[in-house]
Amino acid sequence: MGWNNWNAFGCDVSEELLLTTSDAIISLGLRDLGYDYVVLDDCWQDANGRDKNGKLQPELNKFPNGLKSISDHLHSKGLKYGMYSSAGEMTCARFAGSLDHEVDDANSFAEWGVDMLKYDSCYHMGRVGTPTVSFNRFKAMSDALQATGRNILLNLCNWGEDLVHTWGMSISNSWRMSGDIYDAFTRPDDLCGCNTLAPGDVNCVAPGTHCSVLFILNKVAPYADRSIPGGWSDLDMLEVGQGGMTDEEYKAHFALWAGLKSPLFLGNDLRSMSPKALSIINNPAILALSQDPHGRSMTRVRRDTNVAADEWGIGETHVWAGHLHNGDQAVILVNFGGKDIDIKVSLAELFIPFGPGGSAPHNKFDWAIHDLWAHRMSEATAESLIAASTEPERAAILKAANWYNATEIPYEKGLREEDPRLFGEKIGVVKAGGVLKEKVKSHSAKVFRLRRVKKEGEVFKGKSIDRVTKDEL
Ligand code: GAL
Repeated sequence: MGWNNWNAFGCDVSEELLLTTSDAIISLGLRDLGYDYVVLDDCWQDANGRDKNGKLQPELNKFPNGLKSISDHLHSKGLKYGMYSSAGEMTCARFAGSLDHEVDDANSFAEWGVDMLKYDSCYHMGRVGTPTVSFNRFKAMSDALQATGRNILLNLCNWGEDLVHTWGMSISNSWRMSGDIYDAFTRPDDLCGCNTLAPGDVNCVAPGTHCSVLFILNKVAPYADRSIPGGWSDLDMLEVGQGGMTDEEYKAHFALWAGLKSPLFLGNDLRSMSPKALSIINNPAILALSQDPHGRSMTRVRRDTNVAADEWGIGETHVWAGHLHNGDQAVILVNFGGKDIDIKVSLAELFIPFGPGGSAPHNKFDWAIHDLWAHRMSEATAESLIAASTEPERAAILKAANWYNATEIPYEKGLREEDPRLFGEKIGVVKAGGVLKEKVKSHSAKVFRLRRVKKEGEVFKGKSIDRVTKDEL
């Protein structure tokens, strides 16, 4: 979790941007929700290339005090420092890339105190086309980073090429699986390559830019389960707060990225945050999906394309679901179509991974439905948090709102201790063997945590439901 400058600022980067943004992360309470990586994307390099010793160098007009001073500053504030390069001759913005300079560059990153490297794939010099060729090109940097002895996360950015989801986890911590996101929910755009791929066809060449939230979800759906603790599909940086989507669309985008365990990199200008955007990204009940200790992505249970179309000719609904560490089940019902719709899903269908055809033990219990947006921060509180000018003032606002603080209570502990701030609000029950049915407005999502209703004296006391086999029932 953190922030990356690319979506809002592109190449307009500077020391000042990073430092003022890091102040905002802290004062808005975002660091204490887990957003601790500040990532400098492309365009930090000197346009004249490497120095006479072959070292990458920053553009001094943008970074007058060098890069180590930035990481020192971030570390002193309890934040981490991310940087960017490309497994190519040049970066995508045509600055010097790291291909065949991996050892030198990894050493520079380690010297500068870098904690994460986003590693792009532009100007790859033709070293692409099969999984092995791409793997070897990226592995060189993975090995070089490891050899530095510094713990540096590696975020691959080859946009899903060469089936990165089949090998990314062995050399990196996350891998981008699509072309670049843009600030649109369903709108198709020719700049997003492969936007006419058949469902399930993951082999896209030239993934492009301007990929919608829906496109990215459809692309990752066939292999969402490849995300494992320590290695995650990266659905690209968030667009929340950028202005191109409605509040409901941003809520859906954010919850899906959290539920699918994508890295959560905020992509908006944190120094001019709107109260609505803040109250989306700071919802601890949604963040607890992202940070759930079980560490598996939600997967798509159903896609229905036979629904009323929106203004872009898109009509589809999705049901996404996933198992959580404490036995709860996360469920997201999304309506990408043009009309409000009742979306239904049975317990039997939700729990197929535990036994097909309604045979899962889970199907025999009642499940309480918890709405995870129920306790979203009020607009008035978010507004006063943004307007407050001193640290004590902000701390008092967060305290009065009883806001979750993951630095004090890590999510794992909060979940274990059933901190109510992570569980939304109970709004109903799905009876054993029953069906979850909810009205979902056009271009929005419902986000639930289903909690098994424990029965007095139930036979499985002391034993997690997930370990109960159907024969034991
Ligand atoms: C793209 C990448 C973007 C951004 C950009 C910088 O390849 O997907 O996220 O890093 O390069 O030039």
